[in-house]
Amino acid sequence: MPLLHRLVRNDSAVISFTIDGVPCAGRAGDNVLTAVLCHVERLRQSEFSGAPRAGFCQMGACQDCWVLRASGERLRACTTPLTEGMDIITRRGRGHG
Ligand code: FES
Repeated sequence: MPLLHRLVRNDSAVISFTIDGVPCAGRAGDNVLTAVLCHVERLRQSEFSGAPRAGFCQMGACQDCWVLRASGERLRACTTPLTEGMDIITRRGRGHG
């Protein structure tokens, strides 16, 4: 079940991306955090406890929202604009958060 429910930008251009290989759609103007959490309930697992994490500050300060691209590139989800074809990984094991 998604953590967020879209209330705005419902008519903005669609941006296709994937979460753990599953095709998804965001909207122009979304950041990665918003786009991902409109589809799933977490961004990643804590590297310390394994607990689900979904970001905290939403402004680039807390470092709680790091996700991976399939290439292994790390992204701060709350400050990274969603772009076409992004391949976001949320389900790698502990220590990859
Ligand atoms: S949610 Fe705090 S840095 Fe992204």
